[in-house]
Amino acid sequence: MITDPPRVEGFELRALSEADAPDLLALFSDPEVCAFMDIEPLLAEAEALDIIDWAEAQAAQGLGVRWGVRRAGEGRLIGTVGYNRIERGRGRWGEIAYDLARDQWGRGVMSAILPAVIARGFEDWGLIRLEAMVTEGNERSCALLRRMGFRQEGVLARRGFWKGQAWDQLVFARLAD
Ligand SMILES: CC(C)(COP(=O)(O)OP(=O)(O)OC[C@H]1O[C@@H](n2cnc3c(N)ncnc32)[C@H](O)[C@@H]1OP(=O)(O)O)[C@@H](O)C(=O)NCCC(=O)NCCS
Repeated sequence: MITDPPRVEGFELRALSEADAPDLLALFSDPEVCAFMDIEPLLAEAEALDIIDWAEAQAAQGLGVRWGVRRAGEGRLIGTVGYNRIERGRGRWGEIAYDLARDQWGRGVMSAILPAVIARGFEDWGLIRLEAMVTEGNERSCALLRRMGFRQEGVLARRGFWKGQAWDQLVFARLAD
């Protein structure tokens, strides 16, 4: 199943489900976490449920998956990671995405988790290209991707428009080799 979580020592990954709504609200109500994302900070659990519904619908169609991240043995959701998109028809690529609660930044969490998420795409699903779209200015995300062997391919100028303004999107990719 596409939702089967990768194993990462010290962490528990589990596909997002409706029970995660309060935790997801806590995560995405932080303006710092959402600063470079295409959503306004969440205000209500119903908005978290909309995101979970989207993730579940993507998974049901085999088009994507989002896992909630917890430290092993701890209940608190500290982030999410997964694939916004998996294309196995007219291409073999996936777009990864990730986020962490602000108090988890700078501790190597996503650097520990992403290798298993990347391996899922390349080794288990046979993808030959992984992408990530980063809003210009999101230096932490760029640094993380470079550590993971991604390189910037280009800039999609004014590709995004949210929070009342246009945003350039940086395209990062790593190829299977
Ligand atoms: C993008 C995001 C996940 C990056 O988080 P991060 O903490 O910088 O990345 P990692 O979890 O890999 O941790 C790396 C940091 O931990 C430090 N670190 C500590 N121990 C480490 C270890 N064992 N291994 C690697 N790094 C370690 C690194 O030095 C680095 O910190 P620094 O940049 O201050 O030097 C985070 O900024 C975030 O959630 N942002 C909001 C959501 C978002 O924008 N998502 C991306 C959309 S494209």
